[in-house]
Formats: sequence, structure tokens, C-alpha cells
Amino acid sequence: MSQVRSTDADARLALSRLLAPIAEDLALVDRRLQQELRSSDPFIDQLAQHSFRIGGKRLRPALLLLSARAVGEITAEHHTLGAVVEMVHTATLVHDDVLDEAEVRRHVDTVNARWDNQTSVLLGDYLFTHAFYLASTLESTYGCRAIGEATNTVCEGELRQTASCGNFWLGLDEYLGIIEAKTAELCACCCRLGAHYAGGDHATVERLTSFGRKLGMAFQIIDDLLDLEGEEQTTGKSLGADLAHQKMTLPLILLRDQLGPDEAARLQALCEEADAGHRAVLLQWLDESGALARARRTAEDYARQAVEELAGTKDGDACRVLAQLARFVVARNA
Ligand code: IPE
Ligand code: IPE
Ligand code: MG
Ligand code: MG
Repeated sequence: MSQVRSTDADARLALSRLLAPIAEDLALVDRRLQQELRSSDPFIDQLAQHSFRIGGKRLRPALLLLSARAVGEITAEHHTLGAVVEMVHTATLVHDDVLDEAEVRRHVDTVNARWDNQTSVLLGDYLFTHAFYLASTLESTYGCRAIGEATNTVCEGELRQTASCGNFWLGLDEYLGIIEAKTAELCACCCRLGAHYAGGDHATVERLTSFGRKLGMAFQIIDDLLDLEGEEQTTGKSLGADLAHQKMTLPLILLRDQLGPDEAARLQALCEEADAGHRAVLLQWLDESGALARARRTAEDYARQAVEELAGTKDGDACRVLAQLARFVVARNA
């Protein structure tokens, strides 16, 4: 099990400073998560507690709460929905770690590493079903429907990605469609729920939803960059999974599309040999060609577009934090 190092502590401190205006509400969401997932069965209790250990950034509840603040008041419904979206997110991670054969998540062993794949599949299901049960306790069906649609899209994204593994010729638009589905949609849904349950009008809810979607795009592009060049002790999760599973991500797509046939064939061969030596050569090529920098600029563009969506939304302070969060997502190393 890896240790939490100072670089990670720095990243956490930066995020917790940023989220200080909603710290009490985030603590309530966390308490709700803890309460909801207690079980009288010690094994199930241990599994659920394990999944919510330290290290999760709680980005999705933060988006939900800040979107509420941007529009009006944070209510008890927002705390419930914050717990729901974090549960859905964690369920997708528990399943994703099986797909990626990952060993570390949130600085602790993955469920598949500490227990096994069967346990992960069932725990993911348990978290999904509990999330939908919890969403159904709200008076309005809006939340349950929005979360159902978004979760369905996330699953489609993961399925499309699984089908694209090993496809060196995955198109840029296909890649962007996959990350929009698997990651950006849930971020969009969080902002939608926050704004809607705070009484936002249609136009405001849609603008904040679009903010969340664009932030989510930036978030996944940076996640994909971290998978290539990040540090495991800082991110607290297994890296290198994308290359290991021959998933084409933005820097590789950008590099591939600027090469002639012979060089593209050489790149393809490097992608197919994902051992450490080949990875180092690949990373150097991605760096020297400017592909890593171009991918980062694409994430920055999405973050900028996200911030533009905030113009015209009412409350200054919450919007400022949302804008900072969009910039944090791109600048982060964890
Ligand atoms: C990881 O999300 C999964 C992706 C969508 C890339 P986070 O990086 O937000 O994971 P936690 O919640 O902080 O562990
Ligand atoms: C998974 O993307 C996104 C999900 C919807 C779970 P990744 O596979 O890149 O997420 P990490 O890097 O394992 O957190
Ligand atoms: Mg993964
Ligand atoms: Mg990743």
C-alpha cells in the first residue's frame, strides 16, 4: 500500500483551500456517505468504508454544491444528491479498476487487488443500487431521472472505450465522444442538479450544465496526460493503464495525425509494446513533437470555454470558485 507523500498533501491543501467556502456542506455530504453505507454485515461494511477512504477529491459533490450556491441556497436535497453522485462515481471507479487491472486507487489497494474481481463487480453494483435508492427518496423525480440518464451515458462511454482498445486509428472525434460520455456527462449532471434544486431557471441550469461538461472534458484530458507522465504517489492511483491496454488518448492521437505512414507505423509498434523501455521512448517522442503540450492546450481551451459559460450567472463568489475549479482541474498533478 502506498504512502501519502508531501506532494499529494500539497495538492490536497490547494484543493481544500479552494473549496473552503463549501467545506461544511462537503463535510455533511461525507457524513451522509458514511451513514448510508454502513452495514450490519462486517464484510460489506468493510468494503464500503474502504471505497470512500481518503484521497477522493470529491470533485463531483463540489460541482453540485457550488452550482447550487451560484444560483441560490444549498439545501438538504443538495447534500443527499452530493452523496448520490459521489456513490455513482465511486461505483464507476470500482468497476473501472477491474477493467484496467489497477492495483491502487485513492492511495489504497483497489478492491480487485485486495479482494478480487467478483467482489468489485458486486460492490460496484451495491453502490449503484444504493445511489439510485437514495435519489428516489427525494420528493421530485428530476434528480433520479437526471442521474439515471447520466449514469447510462457513463456506462456507454466505458463500453465504447473498451471496444476501442487496441484501435490505433481511433479518430479524434471518437476519442472526444468517449471522454464526454464516460466523464464529462457526470460532471454536467452534477452542475445541473445543483442549479435545478436551488431553483435556477431553465437558461441558468443549461449554462451551468454546459460549464460542467466542458470542465469534465478538460478533467479527463488531464487525467489521460497524468496516466502518461504523472506520479503514482501523487495521484494515489495506478498509472500507465491507458498504454498497457492500448487506449489511444489525445497526445497519441495528435502525434499520430501529424506523421507520415512510416513514422505512424513506428508509433503503432511502440504503442503495442508497452514495456518500460518503449514507454520512455514514446514519452520522449510525445514531448519533443509538442503533442503533450498541444493536448494540455486543448484541456486549457475546454476550461476557458467552461468559464465563459459562467458569465451571466448570478452569484459572484460561487462563480469565482467554479472558475478557479476549472483552472485547478487543468493545473493539477493529482
Ligand atoms: C477519476 O476521477 C476518474 C476519472 C473520471 C478520470 P477523480 O480523479 O475525480 O477520482 P477521485 O474521486 O479523486 O478518486
Ligand atoms: C475512467 O477513466 C472514467 C470513469 C468513468 C470511471 P480512467 O480509466 O482514465 O480513470 P482512472 O484514470 O482509472 O481514474
Ligand atoms: Mg481506469
Ligand atoms: Mg485515467
